[in-house]
Parts: sequence; C-alpha cells; structure tokens
Amino acid sequence: MKSVDPSPSVKSAKSVVPNVLDEYADAEAAALYDLQYSDWIDDLPFYEALARRGELASLELMAGTGRVALHLARNGHHVVAIDNAPAMFTRLEAQLDHETAQRVRIMDADVRNLDLAGEKFDLVYVALCSMELMHAPADQIATLRSVGKHLAPGGVFACEIRSLTAIDWSQEPSALRHEWTRTDPATGERVTKLHSATSAPARQTTLDTLIFDRLAADGAVRRRVLEVALRAYGRYEFELLLNAAGLRITNMYGAPDLSPYDDASDTLFVVAELA
Ligand SMILES: C[S@@+](CC[C@H](N)C(=O)[O-])C[C@H]1O[C@@H](n2cnc3c(N)ncnc32)[C@H](O)[C@@H]1O
Repeated sequence: MKSVDPSPSVKSAKSVVPNVLDEYADAEAAALYDLQYSDWIDDLPFYEALARRGELASLELMAGTGRVALHLARNGHHVVAIDNAPAMFTRLEAQLDHETAQRVRIMDADVRNLDLAGEKFDLVYVALCSMELMHAPADQIATLRSVGKHLAPGGVFACEIRSLTAIDWSQEPSALRHEWTRTDPATGERVTKLHSATSAPARQTTLDTLIFDRLAADGAVRRRVLEVALRAYGRYEFELLLNAAGLRITNMYGAPDLSPYDDASDTLFVVAELA
C-alpha cells in the first residue's frame, strides 16, 4: 500500500526542488488541472448567489486557475483571488479580458497568514474541497482565521467539503480506472486520465494517484503522474474548527442546489458568519 505523506501540510514550505507529483507544481500540471475541472459548473450558481447578496467584493481563497472567480467576474462581480501556485494563477491571468481584468485582482499569497491590510469582503469562499489540502489542524484554523479577518459585518463564508460517509476508505489501492480521454484545446493532443485511490482512515486522509497520458501527433506518449492527498473533515469537526476561528455555521446544504445535508449527501456546503 502506498503511504500517505504524514507531513502536516501539503504546502507547509516552498521547496527549491519542484515536486513533480504536486498537482499544482508547473504549467503542465496546471493545464491538466483545467482539463479535469474547467467544465465543472454545478457550484457556480451557489457562489454567485452569495456574491450577489453584498455590495463589497468577494474573496476567493485557493482560487487556482480561477474557475469560480472568472465566472463571478463575467457576471459583474469584483473578486480578489488568492493562490500561492504561480502555475495556477498564471492561467487565471491569461483568461482575463479587458472587462474581467477590471474586476479580478490576483494575489500570490499563503492563505494561512493572509493580511489584506484591513480590506473586508461580503463573501469569502473556498471552492471544490480545497480546504482538504490543509492537513494539520493548525493550518486549518489559521486559514479559517484568515477568513474571519477579512469578513465584513454581515458577510458570509462559504465552503464545500466532502461528506465523510461518502468517501471510500479502502486501504488497498483501487484498480487503475480509465476516467476519460479528452482533447487538450491548447495543443489538440488526446489526453487520457487514469485514476487510482487509497486511504489512511486513521488520519482521515485519502490519496489519489492521477496518471495522464498525452498522445502527441507523432504517436509519442508523454506520461505525467500527479498525487493529491486530501484530509477529510467530519461535519462536527468542521463546525468546531470554524468556532475556534471565530465563525459560526448559519446554513448547511448537501449540494450546491441548496438541498438539505442528510445521510445520502456526498458533499457538505457550509455557510458561516462571524460569531
Ligand atoms: C483544488 S485547487 C483550486 C480549486 C479552485 N478553488 C476551483 O474551484 O477550481 C486548490 C488550490 O489551492 C492552492 N493552495 C494550496 N495551498 C495553498 C496555500 N497555503 N495558500 C494559497 N493557496 C494554496 C493550490 O495552489 C491550488 O491552486
């Protein structure tokens, strides 16, 4: 069985040697990220509805390549997008046009000690289970404190996490599964994604191994292997973490369509405010 990195945080320090297994390490990894997720749109109306509530801009932590931030900007909202992986936010930057560039401010910063010099927001959000990249409680609470520090009175924090019960806790690596074959719009090359998962239940951590085979026009295949370790949260654990950071839950949903969170829910969408 593949062991899950016991280190407290995926990005606790920036290494001088890039980790080629890191999902956000470089331009190719970021391009593969977009090939997987840029068409994921189910949660966009959820964040947009929350952004519409207030007058102030929204703050996205761990914004990545800007899937949600761009959507908000295209719909007239101002967003500050925070990420600390240049390969990821460079792709966001590249997608801005004259209009959206007026509405999106990108910042290279660590969300665990974010300080925007007193700037406050009506919406702070962390999309697509990105909070699960925080493995150590100290990092989780530090990130949630960054949230609280930047919430305006009456503002809300929104976040998606996986439902603990919906996760496969098998400890043996699952069979390598073909997930999809897609054309990379940037190169025209066919890319095939294979996926295997394993877990360390005692550490509430899952490890996904992602294998991408890129088929070039001359028939050569270039393989890239990426790994992502995600730290799952129990519902009450997440609530306590929020409380420890000075936040309290106002609403919980089982999906971005606001359906109730219940035994059948795969995800938990939390909305919180300053306590
Ligand atoms: C799952 S991806 C982003 C997903 C994006 N929110 C979306 O909905 O498409 C997670 C992002 O978190 C960023 N990240 C991880 N740790 C971070 C940290 N400590 N500070 C800032 N960004 C971080 C990574 O660079 C990566 O771009």
